[in-house]
Amino acid sequence: MYKLPVSLVAVLLSLSCLAGAAETKAERDARLKWFREAHFGMFIHWGLYSVPAGEWQDRKDHGEWLLLQSKMPLSEYAKFAGQFNPVKFDAREWVRLAKNAGMSYLVITAKHHDGFGMYPSDLTDWCIKSTPFKRDPLKELAAECRKEGIRFCVYYSIWDWHHPDYPARLQGNDIATGRPDKARYLEFMMGQLKELTTKYDPDLFWFDGQENGLVWNPGVAAKGIAELHSLKPGLIIKDNWGVNNGSDYEVYENRIPDAALKKGGDWETCMTMNQHWCYNKNDQNWKSTEYLIRGLVDCTSKGGNLLLNVGPTSEGLIPGPSIERLEAIAKWTKANGESIYGATASPLGELPWGRATQKKGKLYLHVFQWPGDGKLFVPLANKPGKVALLAAPDQALPAASSNNGLTITLPTEAPDKIDSVVVINLDGPVPQPTTLEPLAPSFPN
Ligand code: GLC
Repeated sequence: MYKLPVSLVAVLLSLSCLAGAAETKAERDARLKWFREAHFGMFIHWGLYSVPAGEWQDRKDHGEWLLLQSKMPLSEYAKFAGQFNPVKFDAREWVRLAKNAGMSYLVITAKHHDGFGMYPSDLTDWCIKSTPFKRDPLKELAAECRKEGIRFCVYYSIWDWHHPDYPARLQGNDIATGRPDKARYLEFMMGQLKELTTKYDPDLFWFDGQENGLVWNPGVAAKGIAELHSLKPGLIIKDNWGVNNGSDYEVYENRIPDAALKKGGDWETCMTMNQHWCYNKNDQNWKSTEYLIRGLVDCTSKGGNLLLNVGPTSEGLIPGPSIERLEAIAKWTKANGESIYGATASPLGELPWGRATQKKGKLYLHVFQWPGDGKLFVPLANKPGKVALLAAPDQALPAASSNNGLTITLPTEAPDKIDSVVVINLDGPVPQPTTLEPLAPSFPN
């Protein structure tokens, strides 16, 4: 039998480990199962930038990029650490809000671009240890999430304006001395990632700020991710290098693309509730509950997730308008969650009056625009079983099949002005249309 030289075998083995080739499709499906079923999560942007709450000198529109945009010296920014004391922070309340809204995972900024750790790191003092707040918010949140069955996930910025070894450390970094050393930074970063993994056991790392691959290029990322997987094999990774380079899924910021449906694959839209990620006390430009609920439905109908953001204050409170929206969403998901959790992409593309989602044996029609004549046309060739509103499952709705579809007669009033859900029970699978091109303009337009 022909034998490969030992050295070649070693090279092949290490390459296959690096590429993650060892994982079978079934293993990958099992690892991503919770994420695919979730469809709805909470994003949290919280850090030192929450202290000025968007205001600095003559500007009121700052966010978590304050340090870079204001060009203030790092020593000035560091003063916010002395003022960060979120005594009203209550992990129970945050997790309750998320769970009640129907979210099943939570992603919090463990470190944003300012490099400040929102947990007590053993590798630097540039973290929560340097604030008057002597608690560990990540520990409290992780514990609460675990208790409530919410997946605890961590955002981590690779870009680091503070660290003296980051190759593109901030020009105004008047604290750092010496020449940046990429290898040392990578070692620090991997150290923090391992620390986060072992301390808080997150289910997902949400990487951001990859700065043209100065440190975290696809090759380095593949190696780093493999190391993290060796600590926790089930970890899901969101990486800006894309699904062909180690990321488990794609992310879109504040938009839900038509293309996602056509392309397939795993993806997520992260979305702000107003115009900022972190707390900005002057930003009252809030998105409507209608926009957010339909956004969740739109994502689900295209096989993706919605990661909806909140920006808590430096006292530790989620702003009132965010709570109002979460509570309104909660009302909708409590009545209609069946059509979201565990549902898969619409087999019918986008529809002129709304969206569709499906589960085995059930097609859910999300009616955004209630038809004036009470007739809802569905381009569905199957002979349907029972058709009813999700809100009134015992009352069958008349449905007439014709050659090219099904016409359902609806009650005059929509039970829910934002999205009323009609369930069609089906015996067999819904035939896939020959094209998944959008049938109507994308939402949000
Ligand atoms: C944008 C912002 C960044 C934020 C991210 C969330 O890239 O610049 O600060 O964390 O969106 O997706």
